[in-house]
Amino acid sequence: MAVPKAVLAQAQTLRTELERHNYQYYVLDQPLVSDAEFDRLFRQLQQIESDYPELVDPESPTQRVGGSPLPEFRQLTHRTPMLSLNNAFSEEEVTAFDRRVREGLDEEDVEYLAEPKFDGLAISLSYEQGRFIRGATRGDGYTGEDVTPNLRTVKSMPLRLRGKALPALLEVRGEVLMYRRDFDSLNERQRSNGEKEFANPRNAAAGSLRQLDSRITAARPLRFFAYAVGAIEGAAVPNSHSAVEDWLQSLGLPVCPERRVVHAVQGLMRFYHLMGERRAGLPYEIDGVVYKVNSLAAQQQLGYVSRAPRFAIAHKYPAEEATTEVLAIEVQVGRTGALTPVARLAPVFVGGVTVTNATLHNEDELRRKDVRIGDTVVVRRAGDVIPEVVAVVREKRAKGAAEFRMPTSCPVCGSAVVRLPDEAVARCSGGLVCAAQRKQALLHFASRRAMDIEGLGEKLVDQLVDQNIVKTAADLYRLGLV
Ligand code: IVH
Repeated sequence: MAVPKAVLAQAQTLRTELERHNYQYYVLDQPLVSDAEFDRLFRQLQQIESDYPELVDPESPTQRVGGSPLPEFRQLTHRTPMLSLNNAFSEEEVTAFDRRVREGLDEEDVEYLAEPKFDGLAISLSYEQGRFIRGATRGDGYTGEDVTPNLRTVKSMPLRLRGKALPALLEVRGEVLMYRRDFDSLNERQRSNGEKEFANPRNAAAGSLRQLDSRITAARPLRFFAYAVGAIEGAAVPNSHSAVEDWLQSLGLPVCPERRVVHAVQGLMRFYHLMGERRAGLPYEIDGVVYKVNSLAAQQQLGYVSRAPRFAIAHKYPAEEATTEVLAIEVQVGRTGALTPVARLAPVFVGGVTVTNATLHNEDELRRKDVRIGDTVVVRRAGDVIPEVVAVVREKRAKGAAEFRMPTSCPVCGSAVVRLPDEAVARCSGGLVCAAQRKQALLHFASRRAMDIEGLGEKLVDQLVDQNIVKTAADLYRLGLV
């Protein structure tokens, strides 16, 4: 059956419309229509394509849903190797990097492009005459896995580049990752389907991209950020790294807005601290920042040592996650009697401090994560947030490790523990009979926002309560402490 001209035109209009909305939503972060309106247009196009199967086009937005599973991944050789970056962990190491760069270029002051180091997976995308034709993982840096069908499902990645005078070939380098909020809802979905949860957004992104069935990838909320050009034919790249990224953005590729041109060690360190402050508020995870000499001619002049460029370095933040062993699980009693299970840990350096305890939140969380004494666990400390146990490394669990049970009587006063049917927390029913609750009540009473009693801190309250000197706040007056 021939496709009527009007239908053809309508399909084309809908495709352009939908791709424009994808671009507005994923690249510019400025949606023009509601999700419902997008769905309506999408279904309209799907209907046309199902009425006229000869209209189906691999570049249609409806095709970002994945195809038949592959038996295995093909290997792809990168035109130019995908190298790694050397790391710096201190200002001294950044200073040494800048010194080597200045000496190598024989310049006093060097301009750098600074941007976040995304915690995802490196990917290389090939566009021919502006059409996406293949994409591969980094692999060993020389050969990676062909994940083209999976990448087609990543909606922030254009299947066609924008603009005229497109290069005959363009290899774009960048990172595939998952936003934190998308990771949270994916894990919620995994949980309610009784499937395995992912430990962090990076693992979720990696696991989602390396699926032989691209329909699974399509159901996973992956994102992409471009940060470099690997190879180019039939066009010239601009002469600085910042201009390259601006150009990639003009082609419709998502480029991270958090990029700055800076000078000298001072400029690098200022960027490092600025991003460090903003880190917890970014929609995605970063594990550092990357500094790249901005001039491409200077980059070439500096070249490479072994497998890393001399012109770029990753300045890392302290890791927010680490693994360690659970030595014990204890239950703390709060001011309102709420029981909080806490894991006592073998000391571990994470988020810039040594951590020995991590909260397990409440009984439901503890059960869901199924943390047991002796387990190896992933601990997370982000910003100033209380350290928490993220997940158990199940492979390392000792045989016969017993499931942890919440106590049925208060570990402090022995009163019965009760849990109301509509509450997540179990509570000690002892009230002010319970020394733990009494201590917390006194601390609360003495705190700055209440009576603001100077010098009445945790240590003193412990002593006063343990030695039965103080039972209620009234005793503080009797003793002349207020
Ligand atoms: S540029 C020649 N920029 O870091 C320079 N890499 O340790 C090429 N990465 O495998 C890399 N964010 O996956 C660059 N903004 C960024 C990056 C970045 C993350 C990753 C990349 C690479 C690894 C190197």
